[in-house]
Amino acid sequence: MQSIKIAPSILSADFSCLKDEIQAVEAAGADWLHVDVMDGHFVPNITIGPVVVEWVRKVTAIPVDVHLMITDPDKYAPEFIKAGKVERCFSDVDMILMMTVFPGFGGQAFISDVLPKIEQVRKLIDQRKLAVLVEADGGIKADNIARVVRAGAEVIVSGSGIFKTPDYAETIRQMRQAIGQL
Ligand code: DX5
Ligand code: ZN
Repeated sequence: MQSIKIAPSILSADFSCLKDEIQAVEAAGADWLHVDVMDGHFVPNITIGPVVVEWVRKVTAIPVDVHLMITDPDKYAPEFIKAGKVERCFSDVDMILMMTVFPGFGGQAFISDVLPKIEQVRKLIDQRKLAVLVEADGGIKADNIARVVRAGAEVIVSGSGIFKTPDYAETIRQMRQAIGQL
C-alpha cells in the first residue's frame, strides 16, 4: 500500500490560537495541513483568504493543501500560490479531491455513497498509470478511515476528527493504526 498522508483541516481548529493549533498537529504527526477557503458564493460559508494562508505558511514546515471552494478559482489561484510560496503551478492535474461531505462546513456526517466513486477514480488513475493523488475530504475519523483508504484515497483530510479530539497525537496514531501504517 502507498504511504497515506493525513491532512488535518484547520477549519475545526481554534482560530484564536491558530499558530499553536497548527504546530500542535504538526508535532502530533500530521503530514499536510488542509486549509479550506470559502467565499460564501460557491459554498454557503465564508472562511479565510490569501492573507491567512501567507501566515499559515510561515508557521509550519509541512505542505499546505489549499482547498479553494470559491467562484472563479482560476482568478485567485495565483494569489494563493504566491501566499503559499508554491514555486510553479502544474499545468496538469496532480491531485483529485473527492468530497465525502457536502462542501461548506466541518463536522458533517461522512457520505459513504462516495466510496464507489473513489474506487472508480482510483481505477482510472491506475489503469492509465497517472501520477495523480486521490484525496478524500470530510467526515473522516479514526473509525472510518480504513474504508476510505481501502477505496483508494491516499490523502486523508480530517478536521473535526482531529481538532475536536483531546489528544491530536493519539488520534493520528489511531488513524495510522486503523490503516496499518504505524
Ligand atoms: C468541508 C471542507 C473540509 C472540512 C472537513 O467543505 O472541505 O475540509 O474541514 O471537516 P470534517 O473532517 O470535520 O468533516
Ligand atoms: Zn477541504
